[in-house]
Amino acid sequence: MVFDTVIRNATVGTAADVFAADIAISGGVITALGRSLGPARRDIDAAGRYVLPGGIDTHCHLDQPMRGGVTLADDFLSGCISAAHGGTTTVVPFACQLQGQSVRAAVEDYHRRAKDKPVIDYAFHLIISDPTERVLRDELPALIREGYTSFKIYMTYETLRLSDRQIIAVLAVARGEGALVMVHAENADCITWLTEELEKAGRTAPYYHAASRPLAVEREGTHRAITMSEIVDVPILLVHVSGAEAVEQIRWAQGRGLRIFAETCPQYLVLTAEHLDAPGFEGAKFICSPPPRDAASQEAVWNGLATGVFATFSSDHAPFRFDDPAGKKRHGDGAPFTKVPNGVPGLETRLPILFSEGVNKGRIDLATFVALTATNPAKLYGLYPRKGTLAVGSDADLVIWDSDRDVTITNDLLHHNCDYTPYEGMRVRGWPALVLSRGEVVVDEGKLTAEPGQGHFLKCERPVPAKPPKGMEPGSE
Ligand code: URP
Ligand code: ZN
Ligand code: ZN
Repeated sequence: MVFDTVIRNATVGTAADVFAADIAISGGVITALGRSLGPARRDIDAAGRYVLPGGIDTHCHLDQPMRGGVTLADDFLSGCISAAHGGTTTVVPFACQLQGQSVRAAVEDYHRRAKDKPVIDYAFHLIISDPTERVLRDELPALIREGYTSFKIYMTYETLRLSDRQIIAVLAVARGEGALVMVHAENADCITWLTEELEKAGRTAPYYHAASRPLAVEREGTHRAITMSEIVDVPILLVHVSGAEAVEQIRWAQGRGLRIFAETCPQYLVLTAEHLDAPGFEGAKFICSPPPRDAASQEAVWNGLATGVFATFSSDHAPFRFDDPAGKKRHGDGAPFTKVPNGVPGLETRLPILFSEGVNKGRIDLATFVALTATNPAKLYGLYPRKGTLAVGSDADLVIWDSDRDVTITNDLLHHNCDYTPYEGMRVRGWPALVLSRGEVVVDEGKLTAEPGQGHFLKCERPVPAKPPKGMEPGSE
């Protein structure tokens, strides 16, 4: 038998082990792992290199419709090209329900936006901003059964936030259908009050964005979300966790046996609130929510990554161009922080930053890197074992890493459509050399070899077992 491709002499890294093997690929899937595998139509020599599962970025915003005249810089083409260059082979962005809109209409619109563009595989999360009776009773259960098995809800942002009562209702649907709810946990009313106080004091420069959302705002939201998850008895995943106090809440909940999962992002490891204090309007480049914190929070987040508090590491790629009236300067150079769209780009730099700062600096081991960036996201969102691991039968989505390559991150190097990177000038060691999606090379030494539209849409399995409504479990009468 002749394989399509054999990657030879690899040091294979999975979430469990690191071992020497060849990897055989046929028909886009891994068909054998072993030593001295037989002939192939194409041989790739990976001697001296790690071969890891392709990254899965389960928190990124691509071509998401925005209000107020702002637009995201990346669509499914530029976003996926950028992701692939950074070693990511699956993305899961958000089909966002606008208030008054049906969720199905949002999903259909999002499929139209993606059509013929992705160069890597993709699935959709939903964002639920208007959980009407019809959405909860009909739309959500039907969409979950069709493969949209995770949805994000917001505790803040005027046009997106849900009340606690609405959150509970959404959690109850997730419980009944076996879906996973992702929670943006910040206390909206505290943010509003703090913002008004800052405005009265004339403190509206980008730096004060961080002051409007201090640690306690995230801590309280996190605790409240945990409480609602406990009451409804359904797992949740807290997204983009930034602060030491939120980490403490999550650790506490996990210690009590609650099924609380958590995600963090590169911006909370290598940026601080001081970045928002850059000269002029430059600090706007770093405005995101929650905001970057301080060294103590960075330390707490690293500790959480190393000790299993965090299940996933995503980019939260929310790319707004800086020098652009549809981006960070929507309301002009020097606009108050309240008028600056929230978010930073990071799809392409996610894996190199964690590899360099985490694995190469000894803060996490290689298995933890793989777990955080590929295996756990695949498991949590119903894509495993098709995605997220290197095993016989899994899609041949993999990255050959050059772990000794020194790279200085500059925006010119990147492939997103943003005009800046918050990591400009940062030096990293370790960069993807070759990226394969379903057995096809998509990036070869920095050169794109994939065609637009080559990525497949993925329906997600239900990530958690469905449960009967509270009070109707067997034995609960
Ligand atoms: O500031 C951020 N994180 N913007 C993106 C939207 C979100 O809340 O994840
Ligand atoms: Zn969010
Ligand atoms: Zn986000």
